[in-house]
Amino acid sequence: MSDKAVEHLSEAEARAELARLSAGLADANRAYHTLDAPEISDAEYDALKRRNAVIEARFPALVRDDSPSRQVGAAVADGFGKIAHQVRMLSLENAFDDADVADFDDRVRKYLNHAGALAYTAEPKIDGLSLSLRYEAGQLVQAATRGDGEVGENVTDNARTIADIPHSLHGAPKLLEVRGEVYMSHADFAALNQRQMQAGDKIFANPRNAAAGSLRQLDAGITASRPLRFFAYGWGAVSDALAATQFDAIARLAALGFQTNPLTVLCDGPDAMLAQYRAIEAQRATLGYDIDGVVYKVNDLALQARLGFRSATPRWAIAHKFPAELAWTELLGIDIQVGRTGALSPVARLRPVTVGGVVVSNATLHNEDYIAGRDAKGNPIRGGKDIRVGDWVQVYRAGDVIPKVADVDLTRRKNDAQPYVFPNECPECGSPALREAGDAVRRCTGGLICPAQAVERLRHFVSRHAFDIEGLGAKQVEMFFHDTDLPVKTPADIFTLAARDAANGLRRLKNRDGFGETSSAKLFAAIDAKRAIPLDRLLFALGIRHVGEVAAQILARHYGTWEGFEAAITHALPGTDAWNELLAIDGVGQTLAESLTAAFQNPAERAAIDALVAHLTVQPVVWKAVSDSPVAGKTVVFTGTLEKMTRAEAKARAEALGAKVAGSVSAKTDLLVAGPGAGSKAKEAARLGVQTIDEDGWLALIGAT
Ligand code: IVH
Repeated sequence: MSDKAVEHLSEAEARAELARLSAGLADANRAYHTLDAPEISDAEYDALKRRNAVIEARFPALVRDDSPSRQVGAAVADGFGKIAHQVRMLSLENAFDDADVADFDDRVRKYLNHAGALAYTAEPKIDGLSLSLRYEAGQLVQAATRGDGEVGENVTDNARTIADIPHSLHGAPKLLEVRGEVYMSHADFAALNQRQMQAGDKIFANPRNAAAGSLRQLDAGITASRPLRFFAYGWGAVSDALAATQFDAIARLAALGFQTNPLTVLCDGPDAMLAQYRAIEAQRATLGYDIDGVVYKVNDLALQARLGFRSATPRWAIAHKFPAELAWTELLGIDIQVGRTGALSPVARLRPVTVGGVVVSNATLHNEDYIAGRDAKGNPIRGGKDIRVGDWVQVYRAGDVIPKVADVDLTRRKNDAQPYVFPNECPECGSPALREAGDAVRRCTGGLICPAQAVERLRHFVSRHAFDIEGLGAKQVEMFFHDTDLPVKTPADIFTLAARDAANGLRRLKNRDGFGETSSAKLFAAIDAKRAIPLDRLLFALGIRHVGEVAAQILARHYGTWEGFEAAITHALPGTDAWNELLAIDGVGQTLAESLTAAFQNPAERAAIDALVAHLTVQPVVWKAVSDSPVAGKTVVFTGTLEKMTRAEAKARAEALGAKVAGSVSAKTDLLVAGPGAGSKAKEAARLGVQTIDEDGWLALIGAT
């Protein structure tokens, strides 16, 4: 997000920033709603949305068809049937402070031309996922997630397994769609993660993700085993009105057998609404489930009907969000963690403190400059205040992200407090830790002799886009790393596990707790299955700094085979033909070339790589030469939902084939790839006569089917 004040933006800058915000928010939405894996915090998301709204308010002519202000959530995930909502499932406008709430009340009364006070309900905003339950003749016939607001996922079988959701209703209207939030309590969340951990399964980041991941299971049996709950807070289509007011309608839902939130109250205006906001905020930590604000709704349903909706939000309701959470506590110490590429990351060890209902005892301190009170360019941050062990520091937690140390209270600093000296040796292996010019990070130079780097590399090696060995996740490799009977210290050791285990007599894996005959046989089979591995995956899995997925693909495509790659890189010293060839590859720069050749020419690294490759059959990567790829030199735009790959992957592959990927359709566009839910871009392409194909057509075109 640009930090230029909106009033200083030129029209061109505003247009460009709206385009960036639209794309960024679309990615964030997809990560949150479709993949259940948020990439940015709620506070950051809200900040982006607000910036978008402010720019649009100043430049109404620039509002995009795909503007985030017109959208709700994200398109449906693959694998579920789709249900078109009879009444759209909308989102809520946000209020961030008392003035926003007063404005909301003013706007509502102005719209209605209502001089006197208006009554509103106030209730917690539950941090879960919304669900629409359709009852016909009192029977639950359908349950759908919100999806993009128009079309949701059919999760009927899953919803039936939730105890709070009645299967039949007595005395309900003939048609009734009940809407509410599916959520998981803190206690159930903790117990679920405990079970997941013991089973070596996915650990959920927070109760919301756990609830979403549990509801959106293709196997309803799994949903049934997860402790989900449901609060009803509204309705969609109804054959007869439930009541005349919001408050009575909710009471009616409670009488029909739904759980409704006990903190719902009726308020006679903004003062009472704010009082209830404070009361709910004060109870937040002890509620036992996550809430992220308070929702106010106009109580009179006839007035709600008159107020109606904007494109994505009702005029009659607003969500008053809780601020990002802060607390002050003592900094007990600073630990240095060593990452996969040797980066030394300072972590604050804190006297445990509750920040918005979550006990925080660690927080990130980013890097040595941050501790010293400077940014990467040497300019002061926090007014230049440094952070010292023993200081009182402010801890900040926004959404799901790792807590941060935001500020320090100098008035409480002890007289003998010493400035923190960042180590210039790796705390794990003692090797020198150096900081390259222009790099904010200090790194251990120990490479594989550093145990911390070795473990992180193994975790990376088995990760999803690398070897992705079933049953051998980050937790398991770490366990094997410390194992005395069956140690795995380097990737090659994974491929000798079965043979070494066979020689272990009574101490075999199958005799261990949590393993047994079947799971140890399964693990070895899963490892065997990955002995044949495509070159690009292998290169990515090696975890060489600057060699990410895209670089690995570019390298694999260029060199084709392991033998060709290895021979070239081993001999690529600056000045040689091999070096020049490497640097001439589109997408390979000096930094990548240096990092790659350094790894291959370092004897210890090289020995580990050779030992690994001896166990593998590296599959050549057959890519069409860019010049004769059917999309080389073409400008391609992706729109709508891609079902077989992520946007990031589609873009990387198109670019690898020599195409240019653009964000919007123009006369320069050669090809539009439109998935389900394509909107304005598809229309624009049709208007301009741009060729449009679907995802399968695209995969066929690039020869990827
Ligand atoms: S009312 C017309 N009430 O918040 C919109 N929503 O940000 C009706 N939510 O999609 C929504 N608690 O998933 C409403 N008490 C509450 C809520 C609530 C949580 C969620 C809901 C909605 C989202 C909007």
